[in-house]
Amino acid sequence: MTRVFVLTNNKGGCGKTTSAANIALGLSGVLRKMGAPNHRVLLVDTDSQCHATLVTTGRNDFGQDDSLYAVLMAPRDQAPAVMAKVIVQSTWDSDLHVLPASPLLEGAERELMSTAGAPYRLADPLSHLANHYAAILIDTRPSFSLMTEMGLIAATDAIVPVEPRYLETVGLMNVMHKIATIREGWRVPHLRVSGILVTKMDTRVRGHKYLLGELREHEVLGRLLCGVIPANEAVSYAHRQHQSIFQYDYHAPAGVAYLKLVGTLMKRSLQAGA
Ligand SMILES: Nc1ncnc2c1ncn2[C@@H]1O[C@H](COP(=O)(O)OP(=O)(O)OP(=O)(O)O)[C@@H](O)[C@H]1O
Ligand SMILES: [Mg+2]
Repeated sequence: MTRVFVLTNNKGGCGKTTSAANIALGLSGVLRKMGAPNHRVLLVDTDSQCHATLVTTGRNDFGQDDSLYAVLMAPRDQAPAVMAKVIVQSTWDSDLHVLPASPLLEGAERELMSTAGAPYRLADPLSHLANHYAAILIDTRPSFSLMTEMGLIAATDAIVPVEPRYLETVGLMNVMHKIATIREGWRVPHLRVSGILVTKMDTRVRGHKYLLGELREHEVLGRLLCGVIPANEAVSYAHRQHQSIFQYDYHAPAGVAYLKLVGTLMKRSLQAGA
């Protein structure tokens, strides 16, 4: 079964997009290096801000007929074919494919609100295509909206990025609770929280070190900690140039940490019997 990782946190700016895109590319690269027969990875952008789409394709003008919006609006039986048609290759790597977002997704939430089965409109067609990919990464918007619910329902593994700041970590239990509610409420038993990812960690800041320490000691959250990404301005420069962190600077501390994270995720997936 293809693992589907969703990056989620209703807190804005915590590194969901950066992580989804760089983990996707990192996974594909590591699988290729290992000689895996299939190292294609799909990145699904469910956020109407289109940031993941922009940095991995150089475009944010996907619209009604060539984005996730078209998939969500298609009749159920045609949605898998529409999905296959709108997926594009990333400019980062030909084995990284992107299901692009559109600003229209904002309106799609309202349009679909009263449609029966609306929350499954991503999961259903994605399940038809999943076997083509070694892994799938889903980027979500900073809210628990219908689009984010769709991402969670389609996923097997939720990764929650969080900045090491007090209010952000306080919000973590709410995020866990929300994911559990979706697992129970929409009957998606395969969905589990597989990692908490600390982002923008600055070891010079005492508060950051303190919160990371607290997180590590926490009975539940400590076990879920899957990586620590340092604060690194190379990340913003890479975004600006529509590059991955690895292409911008292979030795950038954030890139090194993302590769380590990829190794951890692969190991945990194997342990979980994937
Ligand atoms: N490790 C890092 N070091 C420094 N800056 C970073 C790091 N990770 C992300 N950023 C910067 O933080 C900002 C937010 O990152 P990103 O867009 O990945 O977060 P997000 O959670 O997807 O945001 P949103 O909630 O708006 O979708 C961006 O300007 C990005 O360049
Ligand atoms: Mg984002």
